[in-house]
Amino acid sequence: MVKLTPEMKEVFAQQKVFAAATASKSAIPNVAPVATVQLVSDDTIWIGDNYMVKTLANVKENPHMALYIWDPEKKRCFQIKGTVTVKTSGPDYEKIKARIKEKGPHYPAKGLLILSITEVFECTPGPHAGKKIE
Ligand SMILES: Cc1cc2nc3c(=O)[nH]c(=O)nc-3n(C[C@H](O)[C@H](O)[C@H](O)COP(=O)(O)O)c2cc1C
Repeated sequence: MVKLTPEMKEVFAQQKVFAAATASKSAIPNVAPVATVQLVSDDTIWIGDNYMVKTLANVKENPHMALYIWDPEKKRCFQIKGTVTVKTSGPDYEKIKARIKEKGPHYPAKGLLILSITEVFECTPGPHAGKKIE
């Protein structure tokens, strides 16, 4: 697994909505906005599943996911890639469920997607764009 650097974590922290990109087993791409996203350790991201349909179906048959994080003030962008495990019970699921229900009891809190980070790429425009960093 790959750890985010302090700079990447700063960019991550100011991100409000993430674009979660997945693909089906037959390679049909999908992207969905997600906001219940939390960096729980330097190499692991939790994403709350309230209303996912294609995203959930995709990660169940193909665990790969990509996100980007972009700070318009610092003008820094990183692509984060990893593999997802889905939990719908157990202590980690209960933790995210409690956080989601705090935000609003009407949210279904169907599940928890645990993204283990495997690669980070530069996406800031310029000479290093597209290069693998981690
Ligand atoms: C700003 C924003 C934030 C959202 N955050 C989440 C989220 O954290 N979890 C979730 O399950 N759905 C979230 N949604 C709803 C999903 O994006 C929506 O249900 C979408 O249709 C899921 O797409 P999919 O079928 O590709 O999975 C959010 C939507 C918006 C507009």
